Amino acid sequence: MGSCVPKKILTNSDLEKMVDTSDEWILKRTGISERRILEENEPIHKLGVEAARQAINDSGVKPEEIDLIIVSTSTPDYLVPSTSCIIQKETGAVKAAAFDLTAACTGFIYGITIAKQFIETGFYKYILVVSSEGMSKVTEWKDRNTCVLFGDGAGAAVVGAVEDGYGIISTYIDADGTQGNNITIPCLYLPEEDIARRANYENKMTLWQEGQEVFKFAVKIMPFASEKVLKDAGIKVEDLKYIIPHQANIRIIDSAAKRLGIEPEKVYTTIRKYGNISSASIPVALADAYQEKCLKKGDYLVFVGFGAGLTWGAALLRWSK
Ligand code: UT7
Repeated sequence: MGSCVPKKILTNSDLEKMVDTSDEWILKRTGISERRILEENEPIHKLGVEAARQAINDSGVKPEEIDLIIVSTSTPDYLVPSTSCIIQKETGAVKAAAFDLTAACTGFIYGITIAKQFIETGFYKYILVVSSEGMSKVTEWKDRNTCVLFGDGAGAAVVGAVEDGYGIISTYIDADGTQGNNITIPCLYLPEEDIARRANYENKMTLWQEGQEVFKFAVKIMPFASEKVLKDAGIKVEDLKYIIPHQANIRIIDSAAKRLGIEPEKVYTTIRKYGNISSASIPVALADAYQEKCLKKGDYLVFVGFGAGLTWGAALLRWSK
């Protein structure tokens, strides 16, 4: 595992000076105190490169042994070359094939699901999965509905075969394109409805969302997806060490945890210090748990996420280190 967040901290009181908001509102309604933000001219991929380097070092695998690099990002510095190709160059993973995937905040779960298939068939031995996000670059800083929520960061994992009964045990990914209009970041095309929603925005190529619709969807889909991967593996909620959810809003996390029937101390969160880092939320939180020495061999963990698309998914992992 590896992770990287920018040095610059943007606190709730900093935001109070930028929009009509308060530390109290943000903390109470979202659980966020501060978030990390890239400097204006800092590239997003540098976070992914650093997280990837750490993951490669931590795994003991040589860069040239990596067969494939999958990067999940909704905020690439370039449409081409892909962020995965940039990471290949910067890490010296010279033999790896490389591609990016877009599954918004569910990207890490999509990434490890793809990696699992390639490893299990024996087609590839080592796969680097990176989630690298610079949400500050697609934020409209005049809109208090969204600018308080997001942060920047990257998380990475080297995926390879481990002993039987450990590793990624079950995964589930899904999508519903009919709800795609609930979160959008336009790129090369701006339809009328996207312009209208961003009427007061300085930059139209920024994130807009129907917060409450996403909220209602998330509180139902998170327990559903978690239960699915547990059921598929014959594991009970009580057997879990932690659930590591997508870190979008502490009220979504608390409500989903309650529906799932898991104790609050088994829910691993980093939202207070990092906010919502889209697809990097889950691997950054996992790397945090690992670095804080909260994990031991045999622990069962569930990752569960949802995001634009709409997409959602979950994975059950048995920690093998
Ligand atoms: O990973 C991406 C997936 N996206 C999500 O998970 C988003 C899910 N949705 C949410 O987390 C919540 O819906 C939000 C945090 C976005 C909004 O919280 P809410 O409790 O749903 O607030 P709301 O939109 O119902 O707004 C309540 C009030 C409104 O004022 P009025 O109309 O009642 O006077 C808003 O204008 O809060 C106001 N408000 C704010 N006030 C102070 C909205 N944002 C702010 C703010 N500071 N930053």
